[in-house]
Amino acid sequence: MQTALLQWSSMAPGLSVVPGDDMATLTRFDLDAWVARSGALDLSAIAWEEVPRHRLAPEAARALRYMQDIESHTIVYLRSLLATRAIDDPEVATFLACWLHEETFHGLALAQFLEAAGHPVSARSRARGREPLGKRLEAGLTALLSRAWPDFCAVHMIWGAINELTTLTGYRRLAALAGHAVLADLLERITRDESRHFFFYYRQAEIRLRRPGVARVARVLVDRFWAPVGSGVQPRAELEFLGRYLFDGPEGRAAARKVDDTIRRLPGFETVQLLEAWMDTRAS
Ligand SMILES: [Fe+2]
Ligand SMILES: [Fe+2]
Repeated sequence: MQTALLQWSSMAPGLSVVPGDDMATLTRFDLDAWVARSGALDLSAIAWEEVPRHRLAPEAARALRYMQDIESHTIVYLRSLLATRAIDDPEVATFLACWLHEETFHGLALAQFLEAAGHPVSARSRARGREPLGKRLEAGLTALLSRAWPDFCAVHMIWGAINELTTLTGYRRLAALAGHAVLADLLERITRDESRHFFFYYRQAEIRLRRPGVARVARVLVDRFWAPVGSGVQPRAELEFLGRYLFDGPEGRAAARKVDDTIRRLPGFETVQLLEAWMDTRAS
């Protein structure tokens, strides 16, 4: 655990390392410090006029369309979470307010980039708030689970940790693959936010999963229901394209394995099968 947290600590304001403490309390989370670093992405800092001067491969544009849509979908994810006991946990509720604010600006920034690159985002065929039946059922079951299980926030936190780590890893892969200087700068800035989101979720998950009974239930739920970010929101073909584009090949596979290995350091998740297993069955 110590290694996993320290590995990400340089990107995670809010983390304090306490020399001399034992392993369990080596790191503490300072919500005030975390909130103080929260804020909207500075869109004026991006060299938008430079965007068309670099080539953007069609695959990179396709990946960005997916990511832009999922960033903009955060408000719908939040709608589902607001029906759970997450709103009764002061730390989680504060985090969610900052999270929505920051993710919204990620969506706006990616839309502005696509526009500048000559790939404007077109209107969705279905209004964002009108989710398909499967997603509405999922939201209803999530609310029921939250009502029935006092430790629901544990699974919310591990879920968020997996998805934020997948997201920030995906952005790094996209920056490397696309070879577009302005995009690399934009994604570097976005990734700083994603790293802070990841750290919040991961730290909260680590605390909550220390109770073996809670970890067992959370593990069953992740094993049974986890799928990569954007599943059920974007078409399956787009998700599978994105998986192949970002995580195929030796470097992609190594990145996916690093995501899985980081999550495996959490209590009860030592043998969990996530992104690499999904790649093996769905996207290769
Ligand atoms: Fe984001
Ligand atoms: Fe995020």
